[in-house]
Amino acid sequence: MHRPQASPRKFLILNPKGGSGKTTLATNLAAYYALRGLHPTLLDLDGQGSSTRWISKRTEDAPAIHGIRGFDLPANVTRTFAMRPPDDCERLVVDTAASVTTQELVPLTRDAYRIVIPVLPSDIDIHAATRCVADLLLVAKIPRVDNRIAVVANRVKRNTVVFRSLMRFLESLQIPVIGVLRDTQNYVRAFENGQGIHEVKGGTEAQDQRQWESILAWLEYGEVPAPASLWQDPERENGHSARW
Ligand SMILES: Nc1ncnc2c1ncn2[C@@H]1O[C@H](COP(=O)(O)OP(=O)(O)O)[C@@H](O)[C@H]1O
Ligand SMILES: [Mg+2]
Repeated sequence: MHRPQASPRKFLILNPKGGSGKTTLATNLAAYYALRGLHPTLLDLDGQGSSTRWISKRTEDAPAIHGIRGFDLPANVTRTFAMRPPDDCERLVVDTAASVTTQELVPLTRDAYRIVIPVLPSDIDIHAATRCVADLLLVAKIPRVDNRIAVVANRVKRNTVVFRSLMRFLESLQIPVIGVLRDTQNYVRAFENGQGIHEVKGGTEAQDQRQWESILAWLEYGEVPAPASLWQDPERENGHSARW
């Protein structure tokens, strides 16, 4: 008997600033869900097609990720149909373009279970993220209490002034910071191999995998980590964090 499938949980990765880590978060998340057997779909809404390219690099034996090119659709294809994940999909990860307009925010966020904004510790990026958060609250009208919006600090070198000002600033926005990812070539390498950080075994990636724990807990259960737990990392980044 045919049982109608519940819609997959939709995770939207958003930030109007290029290079903040949207594709990095989206691909790593999709790979994690693939490992967990949740049949993820990765919807690529960026015309640069980075997520789509990453999927094409995945090897045959890697757990499958269904990719959808949500850009450049041929005119004769119905958009809703083309962007529909397969029936067995339990997690839909949406990688967005830097050029998302405020008008597009409403349809994009409407049925999103969680919205993640990656932010780099730099003045320009902090400024862009403020706009993004403001638009989500005021234009898309997502109430803070919904606990659907959060920030991930990306490419962080702890013990830097700019990291401290990023964390202070994010606290003042009253939007939870759910994770801090260090700046490491491990992400660059994994991307080149069509992998997620959780799929790389036996290297320094173990440290990065641990940094994802608080992010995954929020995405799944809405658990917001205590800020202090993000401020400090018992492990030293790149082995010489005290110098920054
Ligand atoms: N934590 C990180 N450490 C090192 N490099 C990173 C990290 N996050 C992203 N990058 C690199 O920064 C560049 C931009 O990231 P990307 O995810 O493509 O950003 P966006 O999709 O927002 O434009 C890529 O080359 C990516 O590999
Ligand atoms: Mg991208």
